[in-house]
Amino acid sequence: MVYNYITAEEAAEMIPNGSTVGLSGFTAPGTPKFIPEAIAKRAVKEHEEGKEYKINLFTGASTSDRADGNLSRANAINMRAPYQNVPDLRKRINCHDCHYFDRHLSEMAQEMRYGFYGKVDFAIIEATSISPDGEILLGCGVGNVPTYAAMADKIFIELNEVLPESLYGMHDVILLQDPPVRREIPIYKANDRIGSPVLKIDPNKVVGIVKTKSYDGVKPFSEPDEVSKHIGANVVRFLVSEYVNGRLPKEFLPLQSGVGNVANAVLYDLGESKELPSFMMYTEVIQDAVLELMKKGKCTFASTCSMTFSDHTEESLFDDIKYFHDKILMRPAEISNNPEVIRRLGVIAMNTALEADIFGNVNSTHVLGTKMMNGIGGSGDFTRNAYISIFSCPSVSKGGLISNIVPMVAHPDHSEHSVDILVTDQGIADLRHKDPVERAYEIINNCAHPMYRELLLDYLKLGKGGQTPVTLQAAFEFHCAFNEHGDMQKADFGKYV
Ligand code: COA
Repeated sequence: MVYNYITAEEAAEMIPNGSTVGLSGFTAPGTPKFIPEAIAKRAVKEHEEGKEYKINLFTGASTSDRADGNLSRANAINMRAPYQNVPDLRKRINCHDCHYFDRHLSEMAQEMRYGFYGKVDFAIIEATSISPDGEILLGCGVGNVPTYAAMADKIFIELNEVLPESLYGMHDVILLQDPPVRREIPIYKANDRIGSPVLKIDPNKVVGIVKTKSYDGVKPFSEPDEVSKHIGANVVRFLVSEYVNGRLPKEFLPLQSGVGNVANAVLYDLGESKELPSFMMYTEVIQDAVLELMKKGKCTFASTCSMTFSDHTEESLFDDIKYFHDKILMRPAEISNNPEVIRRLGVIAMNTALEADIFGNVNSTHVLGTKMMNGIGGSGDFTRNAYISIFSCPSVSKGGLISNIVPMVAHPDHSEHSVDILVTDQGIADLRHKDPVERAYEIINNCAHPMYRELLLDYLKLGKGGQTPVTLQAAFEFHCAFNEHGDMQKADFGKYV
């Protein structure tokens, strides 16, 4: 097959208003950069001429400012799934300029194949290389590209020159069969390989290749602040106690870790722990800290969907790729986040909450119940199926005006049935084998900030019986106080007595 080399602008011209587009990648790595920018420019031009122009955009997870940011500023996204984290897109979502479906990441590809979202017109794939017969060596993130490529009528490739051919062998690409003929996923250890090192596509679908040269633009993490350090230390303290008390096997278990500064702080602390053995990861994203853990021999292997490294770390990986080559495997999201595999391997899940309530329900997505922050991402995939599920968050936000421990979460993402451990900078609440009232005292005493403990106890005392002493009319008093006075400490439970 002889491919047609085109510019990103020419590709954008071939994508009409109303198209459904699937992007490769997961977070910025693996996500196409130049065609999305060109689509955004086209949208601006079309809008200036008074024409409608929006696409439906499906990805692996979040993308980058170059994709989601530019497209949202151009108001070029009609429908978006399954996850995002870009401020300008968040604004579009929260004012209904963009229809956003927040989905468990493990489910997106299969739902697409089941036909729940209609057809895919275009797949745009970032590639390291492509052979004449359609074998693609992917970049640093996979996401849902096997499904988007299989379903798309037409495919564009962004051939990124900075990606080295030595990435060959670091991908494990597979397209699952669907019910009623789906079989088990034969991953019995985090490092079992089940698929192909390349993505195989129909080369006749490729309508154009755009040559590019660009790193992913992931920013390095700042030094963890004091609060993150306390949270990290508490998570490690909990894991050490589980390990030395024999509630974790002596070989330890694979870890999943969310993204962000807290997650990075936890991983650095794990690296320092003398009591814990080396471990593998079965996770959706690995960040800079994981590479450091690998250099120290503390993390021996990571199964992931993407290598979300800062540009500097990505460069150092490429320079020393021989060392890391057999320590990292990138898989599609429906494998990296697969409930069957997570349950079988006994993954220890560590995710971040926006807020948790005193009974152990967690809100990861909606600020004050209404405004979408990012999305549930993979947190539900891992939490529900984990060996132990841990949620962490700072005890307060906005300098104490917000308590992240509340009487009732304003939006439930993870219920009390799935959350085992809650950790804040204040301490650890072990919710296992505790009834709702016991959980409430455990959380208030160990995780709430001291400035909110009395208020939370006041709320608990309002309860008039039942197994879970919820007082419906007072349950959102913290949130209402914040909306009215800008300060949750202004909550007043006296009026409900
Ligand atoms: N109410 C209102 N605002 C809150 C809040 C609350 N309870 N808790 C935090 N915030 C604000 C913070 O003040 C901060 O605001 P700022 O940006 O203006 O400073 C912002 O929300 C982010 O808080 P931060 O503590 O920095 O969060 P984070 O970067 O650790 O992310 C989540 C936390 C929950 C948003 C993020 O982990 C997430 O999106 N999780 C869901 C997806 C997921 O878990 N994926 C799985 C693994 S990758």
